[in-house]
Amino acid sequence: MKIAFIGIGKVGFALANQLQKHGHTIYVGNDNPNSDSVLKALKANPEFIAKNVSQAVKVSELVFLATPYHSNQQVLANLPFEGKTLIDCTNPVGAGITHALKSEQSGSEMVQQLAPDASVVKAFTIYGYENFEDSSFPAYNVKPAMLIAGNSQTAKQEAAAIISQLGFECVDTGPLSQSLHLEHMTLLWVKMVRMYQNPNFVWGYMQR
Ligand SMILES: NC(=O)c1ccc[n+]([C@@H]2O[C@H](COP(=O)([O-])OP(=O)(O)OC[C@H]3O[C@@H](n4cnc5c(N)ncnc54)[C@H](OP(=O)(O)O)[C@@H]3O)[C@@H](O)[C@H]2O)c1
Repeated sequence: MKIAFIGIGKVGFALANQLQKHGHTIYVGNDNPNSDSVLKALKANPEFIAKNVSQAVKVSELVFLATPYHSNQQVLANLPFEGKTLIDCTNPVGAGITHALKSEQSGSEMVQQLAPDASVVKAFTIYGYENFEDSSFPAYNVKPAMLIAGNSQTAKQEAAAIISQLGFECVDTGPLSQSLHLEHMTLLWVKMVRMYQNPNFVWGYMQR
């Protein structure tokens, strides 16, 4: 699959690198030809193909957004999504590990407003990038759960296929409005990392 990454820092690189190793073609979108993160990513994985953001979106079948949340308004302006799935990995985290939108609206609903002709799915947000670099927990007979939210079933199926390929169990939490709760899970996860001084932990989903 042709996959574009807008943002190839800690999260973007961890996911793009794994996906490239699974055989996907990765287009790194950035309008700054001297971007530190793009140069570093291309050095670490020479299979990546750099383009400007608009071209990367245009040639791809699926797009990941892994930018600082505050950049999104500028980053997403006028991109040619043409109905494609946009996996939103961004989190609106404010000062003191709070919800930057005061919990009045989720960041992903805001992303959907900024990219109205994309089908936004929130995913890869509830853990740190360390668990995207390596999703294996060999001491447990359960895959890490990846909770997602989105309004399009088709887009969520597309996200689920990628999530499963990366070693997670995809758990659909419902419409995009559920993203607010996922963003609070992120805040909890970050606060637990600070408390336990360990980012290498995930949630499991068990049902009966
Ligand atoms: N860190 C985590 O463990 C984690 C986990 C889950 C979710 N998240 C969320 O994921 C997002 C990315 O986090 P990160 O830690 O990966 O950040 P990061 O390492 O700082 O990387 C940010 C990336 O966004 C790019 N970028 C910034 N402005 C851009 C623009 N206008 N156009 C195109 N690219 C732009 C940067 O490129 P340049 O180098 O050119 O500036 C860089 O590649 C954040 O919203 C964060 O809340 C983070």
